[in-house]
Amino acid sequence: MATTFYAFCLLSALQLWLVVVRATTADSCYYYPLPDLPISQDNRTIPWGEPTITYTNGTTCCSTLDQVRDELDAIDSQLLQLLSERSAYVREAARFKATEESVNDPSRSQQVIQDAIDAAPSVHLPQIVAKMVFEGIINSSVPFEECIFNAYDDDSC
Ligand SMILES: *[C@@H]1O[C@H](CO)[C@@H](O)[C@H](O)[C@H]1NC(C)=O
Ligand SMILES: *[C@@H]1O[C@H](CO)[C@@H](O)[C@H](O)[C@H]1NC(C)=O
Ligand SMILES: *[C@@H]1O[C@H](CO)[C@@H](O)[C@H](O)[C@H]1NC(C)=O
Repeated sequence: MATTFYAFCLLSALQLWLVVVRATTADSCYYYPLPDLPISQDNRTIPWGEPTITYTNGTTCCSTLDQVRDELDAIDSQLLQLLSERSAYVREAARFKATEESVNDPSRSQQVIQDAIDAAPSVHLPQIVAKMVFEGIINSSVPFEECIFNAYDDDSC
């Protein structure tokens, strides 16, 4: 009897431990650099785990990969719109630079990227996404702004 109880306690403790460790391991994926996890050899039954998105009306997502992709597509079109607006301000920034050399401001660029990485956890954004996306935004916006600066002569003649 005592042994059964002890075994039960041990099992519960083990389950609790597994739950805690799993949550902690997934949480570490939100920080940069990513944890160095061993590659899983699982072949899981799909869908595995539990839905991780809960809407304000209490329903959860997602039930199918198509549903996931529809949501991603909708967000991607919002991102395109936001990047268009951002690029409009990048173009404006060029008007406040006197020389082509001053268009690229590496310390400002580094600050923009670092700010995104630092703010990421507060909005539950993986830091690797913040880092790579903002590097991509900067790496593409600098040449775009340089092009705008260089194109001005062409416009005036
Ligand atoms: C995973 O399991 C499924 C179902 O048993 C099987 O059809 C599939 O070949 C397995 N895939 C791999 C990579 O082992
Ligand atoms: C709950 O909200 C989600 C997201 O806004 C929506 O797609 C879904 O249809 C809603 N479900 C119900 C039962 O209202
Ligand atoms: C952005 O450019 C920097 C400097 O050239 C490079 O180290 C980095 O890998 C680039 N990042 C991306 C996401 O393109």
